[in-house]
Amino acid sequence: MKTIIEPFRIKSVEPIKFTTVPEREEILRRGGYNIFMVPAEDVLIDLLTDSGTSAMSADQWAGIMRGDESYAGARSFYRFRDKVRELTGFKHIIPTHQGRAAERILFSITGGPGKVVPNNAHFDTTRANIEFSGAKAVDLPTAEGVDPDVIADFKGNINIAALREFIEKTGAENIPLCMITVTNNSGGGQPVSMQNIREAKQVCQEYDIPLFLDACRFAENAYFIKLREPGYADRPVKSIVQEMFSYADGATMSAKKDAIVNIGGFIAMNDDGLALEARNLLIVTEGFPTYGGLAGRDLEAIAIGLEEVLDEHYLQYRIRSTAYLGERIVAAGVPILQPPGGHAIYLNAKKFLPHVPVDQFPGQSLTVELYRHAGIRAVEIGSVMFGRHDASGKFIPASMELVRLAIPRRVYTQSHIDYVIEAIIEVFQNRDKLPGYRIVEEPPLLRHFTAKFEPIG
Ligand code: F0G
Repeated sequence: MKTIIEPFRIKSVEPIKFTTVPEREEILRRGGYNIFMVPAEDVLIDLLTDSGTSAMSADQWAGIMRGDESYAGARSFYRFRDKVRELTGFKHIIPTHQGRAAERILFSITGGPGKVVPNNAHFDTTRANIEFSGAKAVDLPTAEGVDPDVIADFKGNINIAALREFIEKTGAENIPLCMITVTNNSGGGQPVSMQNIREAKQVCQEYDIPLFLDACRFAENAYFIKLREPGYADRPVKSIVQEMFSYADGATMSAKKDAIVNIGGFIAMNDDGLALEARNLLIVTEGFPTYGGLAGRDLEAIAIGLEEVLDEHYLQYRIRSTAYLGERIVAAGVPILQPPGGHAIYLNAKKFLPHVPVDQFPGQSLTVELYRHAGIRAVEIGSVMFGRHDASGKFIPASMELVRLAIPRRVYTQSHIDYVIEAIIEVFQNRDKLPGYRIVEEPPLLRHFTAKFEPIG
């Protein structure tokens, strides 16, 4: 059989609310044309993020009931620790309430003024935690990784030649660790090859720099390796995952992605000294080292999710259903960041709305229209999020104007995705009519969350 189906049946359902175009126009007006201001209840299909929005399985919900809520040494902790250790091989496994808590602990210890941390592309919270410590975050993508139109297998790769050059220039003593983000979220959900991880490890080893994975979407990355990298087609995904982690000295993870839970994360490493410092910090702000800001039940659900995510029927459905959305809209001429990523499709708003200049936020215009037209919530990743003004007041746009449609795991069915496809194509057909936007109110930091807009003209 060639039809790929959702590898689950549905036991518990959550109704979604239908609204009319005039109702949504009023909701948008009230929220200052900012999609973050729209109450989730008024969203029909919510593709704002794949983080913490996935559906847990019957087994995970049963695990929630089995959770051991003892303060110290809970059974659920050992179950969690053993599962993470089985997959990663790391000696020290430290739970945190989500990914950015792991990042904050790691960079509070290793960061600080004068330090620089390279990555294929830092996610915003990783960058923020590095910079908050006084250190600098540097992205080292490949040339094909930053070209939205190139179709290549591993556009998430870190640039090995640039990494070596960067270490020589910066001095190994100023680089506390090197990170690789799998899959590369900021670069379009693109995978990193095993060869690239191996080569990055070799370079790091030469200079005695630890390598850490930002492992949020490790299973999706491993499945791409299985599909695309010579020599891996017949390997079980679990063994590909184990090989990926074998080249790393540690990892941070937001369990809200590939552990298929609504909250949780961890930091893991081999270094005893670093682990001791991490646990000391953990106790101050997160909790005792056997729960780290989570309930025992959360640890139980993570342990189960980490096994379920390796099911190859699940991964086949996951990667195929994202590609399906991408391929269908590309066939209608819609410009996207190519090729489709693991967890999301990124619309190329600059090409979608060539008549809207970047300082009028084409990504914002497209995001507003997807909601107005069809009740779909996506997120602008462009000049609203990353644009700024230099000292002379000149507008510096983001490098790309994207709109991300992130797909929660096991939540929407193919007919939901068909609806999304139809909506995007209809918006594309009427794209000439879409206006630019101006900002009428903005906070000093992270303006995309709360800024107010109005349409121009
Ligand atoms: N690293 C990556 C690659 C991420 O995508 C995220 C979160 C984090 C770290 C932080 O994890 O949210 O648990 O603190 N990404 C979400 C997103 C928010 O929508 O892409 P967290």
